[in-house]
Amino acid sequence: MTKPRFNPDLLTVPLYVAGRSIQEIREKYGLEKIVKLASNESPVGSSPLAIQAALEMMTEAHRYPGVGDVNLRRKLAARFGRGFTENNFLIGNGATDLLRMITQAFTFDGGNNVMADATFPMYRILTTTFSGESRIIPLLPNHRFDLDAMLAAIDDDTRIVFLCTPNNPTGMIITQSQFDYFMSRVPEHVIVVMDESYHDYVTDPSHAESLEYIEQGRNVIVLRSFSKASGLANLRVGYMVASAELTEYARHALLPFNTSDIALCAAAASIDDDEYNELQRKTVLNGRDYFESAFADLDLQAIPSQANFVAIVSPPLGSARLTELLLQRGFIVRELTTFGMKNAVRVSVGTMEENMAFAQALKLIFETEGVAA
Ligand SMILES: Cc1ncc(COP(=O)(O)O)c(C=O)c1O
Repeated sequence: MTKPRFNPDLLTVPLYVAGRSIQEIREKYGLEKIVKLASNESPVGSSPLAIQAALEMMTEAHRYPGVGDVNLRRKLAARFGRGFTENNFLIGNGATDLLRMITQAFTFDGGNNVMADATFPMYRILTTTFSGESRIIPLLPNHRFDLDAMLAAIDDDTRIVFLCTPNNPTGMIITQSQFDYFMSRVPEHVIVVMDESYHDYVTDPSHAESLEYIEQGRNVIVLRSFSKASGLANLRVGYMVASAELTEYARHALLPFNTSDIALCAAAASIDDDEYNELQRKTVLNGRDYFESAFADLDLQAIPSQANFVAIVSPPLGSARLTELLLQRGFIVRELTTFGMKNAVRVSVGTMEENMAFAQALKLIFETEGVAA
């Protein structure tokens, strides 16, 4: 039988490595109880209002999506204020889908995109998908973006700079003064993507306010996700905010009916669920504080995080072995090689019970393996 022709360019696109599933680890290790702290999901489930909205929309499952998209965009516009309208928003099948649309829209004809080495891997993967060159800039020793080096990497063929704040996997933010500095130097032909998927967890008042630059008409695209603080990772809803012109242009890369009304109505309902949003945020902020002190007690080097995860660098035993020993005890964490960090693991904040069990497991592993902690 003759084999179909494979596209050699497509074969250069790295596969995205997702966090390991509970089912996979349960089957592999024969464990009853698994604690998944690997994919930055909500530790407190989804908003009851969102679930109810999704269930109600199920009676429309036989119809193509119709109302959800514009309703959600209008709701977001009203919430954001600043004179934004629904035309400043584009909804995607998760923020990942918007990253795909943006990269497809701007990476053509020998373009290059600038990004950090340790950041969300999809920027690099999508740049390769659309035949662009990835210019990868190492983080500074303090784990922040090296904005000067990113600026220096820009040339006439640069299309996009991907910034992420808080950055996945470090949890570090871009401050207002750093962003102002960057924006005062970045050339006008470059699209600046501010991936703010973890924005709801930021407590540091010095965090950059990127929306102001959209108001000023600059080429900034802000990304947000309903997968994290809104607890709807399985439903796949994200959005971008940008000038009406950029939004309209990016719309050309949108696939019809990219997100279901079931998901869109749930997302819209989650915005109004103050009780859930408060519980979710409190749980994460308390858990983040707990991790900070528990990791310090264990003499671990943890990067101060503004997101719902914490990265531990150079852990005793090394990241690969530590990840494996944790799996054997039923704790799934993320080893960060595919995120561009050697010898580091990322732990998502769980419920307080899960966080405490995790810290206890680390302690026991270090004791059993005879490493000082
Ligand atoms: C920085 C960053 N951007 C985007 C995404 C994708 O989010 P979504 O689930 O909305 O596609 C993630 C998910 O992990 C992320 O960490």
